[in-house]
Amino acid sequence: MKIGFIGAGHVAQVLSELFIKVGHSVVLTNRHGLTRLRPIVEKLGPHAMAGNLEQAAQQELVILALPFKAIFDLDPQPFADSAIIDATNYFPHRDGELSAVQTHQTASTELVAQHFPGARVVKAFNTLPVANLANLAQQSRSAAAAKKIALPLAGDAGVKLQAADLMQALGFLPYDVGSLADSQKFQADTNLFLFAGNHAELAQKLT
Ligand SMILES: NC(=O)c1ccc[n+]([C@@H]2O[C@H](COP(=O)([O-])OP(=O)(O)OC[C@H]3O[C@@H](n4cnc5c(N)ncnc54)[C@H](OP(=O)(O)O)[C@@H]3O)[C@@H](O)[C@H]2O)c1
Repeated sequence: MKIGFIGAGHVAQVLSELFIKVGHSVVLTNRHGLTRLRPIVEKLGPHAMAGNLEQAAQQELVILALPFKAIFDLDPQPFADSAIIDATNYFPHRDGELSAVQTHQTASTELVAQHFPGARVVKAFNTLPVANLANLAQQSRSAAAAKKIALPLAGDAGVKLQAADLMQALGFLPYDVGSLADSQKFQADTNLFLFAGNHAELAQKLT
């Protein structure tokens, strides 16, 4: 699969490396442009390409890996037909006060979906610490099914299948939490943030 990343920082680089290892290719875009992007894609190798926003948005799957508040400065037009995974987290101290999200009336990813009319949106890959992701993936891949690390995802049914395939390819077990509204159950202000447990442990945290 060809995956576009909006953002080329820690999350995009670690996920890109893992996705490339299992046979995918990536297009990365950032804010500062090619000078900063070029060494990143060179390090990732021939299956990584530097692109602009439009090119990243046209890939089979687009992963948002930038600060949450920066999403709302993006032109939504190129994403009108996109399948999007929102891997971002909302932090009030970094992204500003949003009372509807802070009081759990709205999931942060519901606001993301509203910003991209026509796009199909899922929240996923936001709970794991990227600094340790490669080790966790390796550990989970070699574990028996009951001990694999389960990752929550929620939102559009078709994009959930794509996200679940990616999770499984990396060695994780997808855990379907439900709709985009349900995605607030694993936002940064919940007990699932930075949680790396198995399916049963994740289910228990959700109850
Ligand atoms: N770090 C974690 O463990 C972790 C885990 C899961 C989820 N997350 C979430 O994932 C997101 C990214 O985190 P990160 O650690 O990868 O951040 P990061 O290392 O600071 O990288 C952010 C990236 O976003 C780009 N960016 C900023 N504004 C942009 C814009 N308007 N258009 C396009 N690109 C833009 C930056 O471009 P430049 O390089 O040009 O500045 C940079 O490449 C955050 O929402 C974070 O909360 C983080």
